[in-house]
Amino acid sequence: MENFDWKNLHFGYMKTACNIRSYYRDGKWSKPEVSDSEYFNIHIAATGLHYGQQAFEGLKAYTGRDGKIRLFRWQENAARLRLSAGGIKMAEVPEELFRESVFTAILENRQFVPPYGTGATLYIRPLLFGSGAEVGVKPASEYVFIVFVTPVGPYFREGIKPVNMMICRDVDRAAPLGTGTFKVGGNYAASLRALLAANEGGYSSAIFLDAKEKKYIDECGPANFYGIKGDKYITPKSHSILNSITNMSLIDIAASMGMKTERRPIPVGELSTFSEAGACGTAAVITPIARIVDPEKNMVYEYCSDGKPGPVTMNLYNRLVAIQNGDAPDDFGWITIVE
Ligand code: PLP
Ligand code: COI
Repeated sequence: MENFDWKNLHFGYMKTACNIRSYYRDGKWSKPEVSDSEYFNIHIAATGLHYGQQAFEGLKAYTGRDGKIRLFRWQENAARLRLSAGGIKMAEVPEELFRESVFTAILENRQFVPPYGTGATLYIRPLLFGSGAEVGVKPASEYVFIVFVTPVGPYFREGIKPVNMMICRDVDRAAPLGTGTFKVGGNYAASLRALLAANEGGYSSAIFLDAKEKKYIDECGPANFYGIKGDKYITPKSHSILNSITNMSLIDIAASMGMKTERRPIPVGELSTFSEAGACGTAAVITPIARIVDPEKNMVYEYCSDGKPGPVTMNLYNRLVAIQNGDAPDDFGWITIVE
């Protein structure tokens, strides 16, 4: 990968050397196998194809200045995959199988881990789905767990530049007692109409409101929302959003900076009281929000009047990224050195 242009990578798929696969049959997981194929042979009646028995994760590996490869809070991703599996009645992936598969995927694709200082990272995508054949609606008895990796740049093309977002009132991503807290493909399929409508209007992403009352902020596309008010970091509490590991980390970082933190329902009207707003997630990292438009209510909420991220957002971003890259001490115990 010498001379590879890491700095201009987008968030997309790139072929790497191999991926890792395990099979759940007769109540047991097989040992992970390395495959150099990007394809998978699947039964036409697999429940993952028909009934949405499918969940995934997203985490990143970072190269430090010391050349070591670091993983950020992988145990949380392993736990969330178990939660998602339980939520749609799939076989759970044990933590040790998750660890071994993720570590092997990174080590077998070392040459694809972007170097320090390029702004790019290795995105790791664990995927679990029902592979057993069923025609009646029921959980499969066989499952497949695959981990692939791909080097990526920033999710929102703008990187740390502020983006505009649109509140979408005519599409719900997840029902109040549905699958919003699980990382299952169906939620993303449900979000596509809103995402495309937002993109067509020139916005980077759609903001979803709570499905029941349409009163509170839920999420920003594939990321959690936060707002800054005075010395407070405020982020939504909702039964239909994904519990972001990045957001959990920012809450701890904000507290360590002496800020107060609140996780509670955020009424849409409160958007006008924030000095800064942002979207956070593994792919999005921290993406500052410049403007939120609510077309149906004819409202516009402006942040970053000078086109730059606000000071609190920059501070949070710098601290988070410094921990992930190994430039700051790992005081929270979030980093695992892979090699
Ligand atoms: N919300 C949704 C819907 C997501 O897809 C993601 C991405 O994983 C997040 C939030 C952020 O979660 P995390 O910080 O764990 O990546
Ligand atoms: C992530 O941040 O890892 C995500 O899963 C977002 C993804 C859906 C692009």
